[in-house]
Amino acid sequence: MERILVIGACGQLGSELTNELGRLFGNSNVIASDISQPVSAISDFTFEQLDVMNADRLNDIVKTHSITQIYHLAAILSAKGEENPKWAWNLNMTGLLNVLETAKENQLRIYWPSSIAVFGPSTPRANTPQDTVMDPNTVYGISKLAGERWCEYYHEKYGVDVRSLRYPGLIGYKSLPGGGTTDYAVDIYHKALRNEPFECFLSEDTYLPMMYMSDAIKATLDLMQAPADHIKVRSSYNVSAISFSPKEIVAAIQKEIPEFSASYEPDFRQAIADSWPDSIDDSVARNDWGWSPNYDLDKMTSDILENLPALLSEFEQA
Ligand code: SER
Repeated sequence: MERILVIGACGQLGSELTNELGRLFGNSNVIASDISQPVSAISDFTFEQLDVMNADRLNDIVKTHSITQIYHLAAILSAKGEENPKWAWNLNMTGLLNVLETAKENQLRIYWPSSIAVFGPSTPRANTPQDTVMDPNTVYGISKLAGERWCEYYHEKYGVDVRSLRYPGLIGYKSLPGGGTTDYAVDIYHKALRNEPFECFLSEDTYLPMMYMSDAIKATLDLMQAPADHIKVRSSYNVSAISFSPKEIVAAIQKEIPEFSASYEPDFRQAIADSWPDSIDDSVARNDWGWSPNYDLDKMTSDILENLPALLSEFEQA
């Protein structure tokens, strides 16, 4: 019987993953936690307020709820991290090390997301391989690369069953992201459905690897449910689904909303995007545990434009 703790359950990924874990394991076996007050999307779950910097509180929750797996999703993302680098480093690293320590003590399985932000300006940009040059130049990317090394270390030295994916930009309609460079690809759908023009903070030809939330959840759960001996990479796996530029997502939306328009005003996030790959080679994940995505840009766009309108008023009230 698995007992699962989700850290960062109020976030963009956490709120959707918590519900999917509830469907798989039963809501009573999934404990939601976050530093902030619980959001309505996770109201069906037991909630524990948790600052992951507080190792004692984390250990108490693990013991009280007989936890067997942790999904540790709390982190400061790329753009926000640049506003306060030491704070972002401290939170991202201390949080992960607290989780790895409790995993070691309590024999827990861990999921921890890494990111395409581990790559940098010297990394090959097209079809970036699993193993390649990594010279991240954001504090977020540096913390994710260091985190990958710590995950492998805890696996090698202490046998911790830790698993990780290098997520591309994640695009969903049920919740909003915060502080990332890829967030424009979520905001753009909200603007289109409100019949407002969109001002993009990246230039129109900036390609980035992206993934629809339902594929991200599938990748995460496929990885976590794969037999341990299939998991050959204990740092983090490349996974990929779609690569597109702002111009291409605008064109995909215009197929369904022809009057939609966008303009481009690149800001400091352009340099972050320019340091990341255009596309990712995920053949190692495909071979080791059978990864494959379901959504391309048009299928994702249709799904969002169909389902987001029912939620728009909730976002306005929030
Ligand atoms: N979506 C993240 C960001 O933009 C990348 O992992 O920061």
